[in-house]
Amino acid sequence: MILTPKDVEHRELHNILLSGVAPRPIALVASQDSEGNVNLSPFSFFNCYASKPPIIAIGPAFSAKTGKAKDTYLNILETKIATISAVTYSMVEAISLASCEYPKGVDEFVKSGLTKKESQTIPIPGVAESPFIMECTLLENIPLGREIGGNGNLMLLEAHSFTIDDNMIVDGKLHPHKMDLVARMGYNWYARCDEHSVFELHKPQWNGIGVDALPSSIRQSSILTGNNLAKLAGVKEIPEKDSNFSILFSSIEEQHLLAQQFLANGDLHSAWQTLLLS
Ligand SMILES: Cc1cc2nc3c(=O)[nH]c(=O)nc-3n(C[C@H](O)[C@H](O)[C@H](O)COP(=O)(O)O)c2cc1C
Repeated sequence: MILTPKDVEHRELHNILLSGVAPRPIALVASQDSEGNVNLSPFSFFNCYASKPPIIAIGPAFSAKTGKAKDTYLNILETKIATISAVTYSMVEAISLASCEYPKGVDEFVKSGLTKKESQTIPIPGVAESPFIMECTLLENIPLGREIGGNGNLMLLEAHSFTIDDNMIVDGKLHPHKMDLVARMGYNWYARCDEHSVFELHKPQWNGIGVDALPSSIRQSSILTGNNLAKLAGVKEIPEKDSNFSILFSSIEEQHLLAQQFLANGDLHSAWQTLLLS
């Protein structure tokens, strides 16, 4: 299927785009108007774009139905400050509730049952249940799109302070299994980043030989996958045969299946040695 955005009805286009650009982290944004009314809403048009200094962007759009601006957008333009709290699986129903379109002035902390946590540098609270809170100031707002209704904004914010839950730290590092963050997909789908789905992958420490440099018998395998080939191609050079290594197989398919098994167990050396046997 080939789609041209201008030919697709906006709601469907929105969901198609959000299904392809996924999973997206969720910013739970607390903002405040000049009278001190606090607002809390989730935004998955969200990411960080630099770390020196830390620059974050969120994308509050104008309502596709009414063309109205989001309270978050108006508040940040007015007071130039916001907190962004990361969203965990245990908060997901609360943030979904906080995304309801309550009238301006309604405090979604109260509606969602989430707890305010005092900030260090700005007079807006973060979310106490969140393991990671950033205190931010507005750098720039870039309006996106020309038609009113559904058009977006790119709000660039600088983070001045991070508040991190110490319980999320293992061996001095924030651990994703402890954090259990959630991400937004298309339609009504979410992703949960727990120990069943978050894995560690080490980048090769040198320029790998590349898939193009693998022997053709390996490259053209009917068993080894693209991931298998890329893992094998991450070596600095094709390894020497290890004369002490031996393993029995009766066909090339079986040989490749054995190598694949070694790769699945993280044993690149044995995978290569299996493939080097004739
Ligand atoms: C997980 C999630 C992510 C969302 N991401 C966005 C987003 O990136 N941009 C947007 O305009 N609305 C987004 N929404 C919808 C807003 O949260 C919703 O319109 C909310 O009512 C805005 O609140 P406000 O007017 O109080 O700022 C999202 C909703 C959910 C549940």
